[in-house]
Amino acid sequence: MPYLQWTESLSVGAARMDAHHRKLIELINRLFDAMSGDATKTVETVLDDLLDYTRYHFSEEEALLQACGFPGFDEHRTIHRDMIRDVQAMRQRYLENPAGVPAGEALDFLSKWLMRHIIGKDLRYRSCVEGHDEIKTD
Ligand SMILES: [Fe+2]
Ligand SMILES: [Fe+2]
Repeated sequence: MPYLQWTESLSVGAARMDAHHRKLIELINRLFDAMSGDATKTVETVLDDLLDYTRYHFSEEEALLQACGFPGFDEHRTIHRDMIRDVQAMRQRYLENPAGVPAGEALDFLSKWLMRHIIGKDLRYRSCVEGHDEIKTD
């Protein structure tokens, strides 16, 4: 059993965004999978991969929200920026002292970081983007 699981109740109404969210969940699950052994190095890899993919996802998601005229766009973009900053801060803390960021702590933080955003914020744009999945955002 993976630590986090994507289910239909997390669908934001845009297949491509759902695919991105599944990928983010998969990246966080890698930490959990590594925890049976020495996961110290995995913390760094996961934080790096997560930062890369999150930047990509956020910019695609913002383009979609802008294209469909989502009223909460500015607030949503600000939240995305803060979320990137939070992961960067954890990465910085890890680089200064790897032992100070145990895999369990990173897993707990990142799980809440992602799931609270999808459930609390992303689901709010569902009615706006539904049917707009064809909008080209790149
Ligand atoms: Fe978002
Ligand atoms: Fe998202």
